[in-house]
Amino acid sequence: MSRILVTGGAGYIGSHTVHLLIQSGYDPVVADNLSRGHRHNVDAKRLRVLDLADTDGLEQLMRSEGVQAVIHFAAFMAVGESVREPELYFSNNVGGSLSLFTAMQRAGVNRLVFSSTAAYYGNPERVPIPEDAPAAPVSPYGESKVIVEKILRWLDQYRGLRGISLRYFNASGADPEAGLGEEHDPETHLIPLLLRAVATGQPITIFGNDYATPDGTCIRDYIHVSDLAGAHIVALESLLAGGPSGAFNVGTGKGQSVLAVLRAVEEVTGRKVPHTIGPRRAGDPPSLVADSTKLRRTLGWEPRYTEIRDIVATAWEFQRKNRAS
Ligand code: UFG
Repeated sequence: MSRILVTGGAGYIGSHTVHLLIQSGYDPVVADNLSRGHRHNVDAKRLRVLDLADTDGLEQLMRSEGVQAVIHFAAFMAVGESVREPELYFSNNVGGSLSLFTAMQRAGVNRLVFSSTAAYYGNPERVPIPEDAPAAPVSPYGESKVIVEKILRWLDQYRGLRGISLRYFNASGADPEAGLGEEHDPETHLIPLLLRAVATGQPITIFGNDYATPDGTCIRDYIHVSDLAGAHIVALESLLAGGPSGAFNVGTGKGQSVLAVLRAVEEVTGRKVPHTIGPRRAGDPPSLVADSTKLRRTLGWEPRYTEIRDIVATAWEFQRKNRAS
């Protein structure tokens, strides 16, 4: 049973991945400073409250736990916040990653799965986006991930660290049976905000309907968080089997407009979503859809959720359960 260190395992995507690791027969230990994650997302016996800046603590943890590989989620992820506080993003996302990689090197751990992002591509020239599209981030958040991917390429070359970067598109949905879902504070993501508008009656603002898309609203590739978790498992297995470093998009390959997601929420909840149309949000590309052929072909990954309605249904169930408890 391989011992896996999961940084940021108390967060949204991290906690779903820890759950799937356990189901898949792994024995994960979580390092999380709980600055954005939630204690209730992780079994207490697996949780070590530890900051990424604590290189010695991470090294010690990997040694004492006999860690064989690391899945590295711990990072800040709010694009808007990164524009207001770029130093915070570079220090936490880049500095924190470097501290982790140093600890790994000292502890002799040389397998890593890294949380990257579609924000790597900025405003892409071609959609669906292939992995060899240029890195052109338009926010400090995106840049922080590009820098870490670059560091990983050098560490592959000179340290023998094998790393797989997974470039996530729009993580969404929940695993209500596991008691896991999206709980950001403040919440900025579309699906939880649409569901909140239904629940509270407070209208959500649609950020622009004058884009050059069929209905004028932005198009995104919504990938269910459990399918994202599954991508980490196949990446980890490839690395543990001696496979090479690489970078993969993780998305369904299907784009949905904001209004299409709104309609899916209305179908699932059986209620109207109170909404208003507002101005565009700065930095929103009109369309981001993954070409995820490489992940399918190379690692044999397939998403189970391909319908936006089914993804929304899991998020709705989580919100209902959460409010009831
Ligand atoms: N949107 C609204 N109103 C809202 C919130 C969102 O209209 O109140 C729209 C946005 O303008 C966008 C779409 O819904 O068109 C999706 O927005 P999200 O904020 O849910 O997600 P983003 O696509 O902006 O961002 C996500 C991740 C980022 C990542 C980015 C890369 O949250 O971490 O994808 O593609 F960087």
